[in-house]
Amino acid sequence: MLDNALIEVRILLQVLELGCGNSQLCDELYKEGITDLTSIDLSSVAVAKMQKRLLSKGLKDIKVMEGDMLNLSFTDESFDVVIEKGTMDVLFVDSGDPWNPRLEAVNKAMAMLQGVHRVLKPNGIFISIAFGQPHFRRPLFNAPEFTWSIEYSTFGDGFHYFFYILRKGCRSLDSDADMNKVETPSICLYQDELDNEDYLFRTNIDEMDDER
Ligand SMILES: C[S@@+](CC[C@H](N)C(=O)[O-])C[C@H]1O[C@@H](n2cnc3c(N)ncnc32)[C@H](O)[C@@H]1O
Repeated sequence: MLDNALIEVRILLQVLELGCGNSQLCDELYKEGITDLTSIDLSSVAVAKMQKRLLSKGLKDIKVMEGDMLNLSFTDESFDVVIEKGTMDVLFVDSGDPWNPRLEAVNKAMAMLQGVHRVLKPNGIFISIAFGQPHFRRPLFNAPEFTWSIEYSTFGDGFHYFFYILRKGCRSLDSDADMNKVETPSICLYQDELDNEDYLFRTNIDEMDDER
């Protein structure tokens, strides 16, 4: 009965994926029962490849479209979950000293986060799966304009990556509250699936493998 209830909840969730590339994340979410999925990418090539691949797998319900995560075109409070994997990292590829990143990168990251915060419903969740370490992400996620709480956990053997969960409207009244590290995130994605994707290094869309 609980399983059925959980499936019903998942079906109702409206989920937005930022910078999908040709990742299989949306396929996996769909398999988990999350069917109202919208994936955007800046690259028309990535979008076309993703659409073709999903169609070939019969996943025609997943909406894939061109879109800029720095200027989201969706209405306010329209998604329960926004998720990105390796896309925010791209903003910091050429940002110089990580302790003092270039203003341009910081401004882009803030534009992205402001958009995410805007399109999330009250109590909506932003999931960020990234190589960006907590001490570099903290000042951005913790900006005073955001109302989300922040927790994270660490994955990976060689390269560590981080799984951040930001819950809109759940920020502690203590404005100095820090990010909470949790041993197991309260939302579960399968680590194997993430480990199998060489996402951070696959920034060149032409290198994407059609067969995935
Ligand atoms: C490192 S890849 C990650 C792709 C995918 N999320 C994965 O896990 O394999 C970054 C992706 O973000 C896309 N991207 C970069 N800037 C973007 C933006 N401003 N808006 C939307 N997508 C963007 C790129 O086209 C690329 O597909």
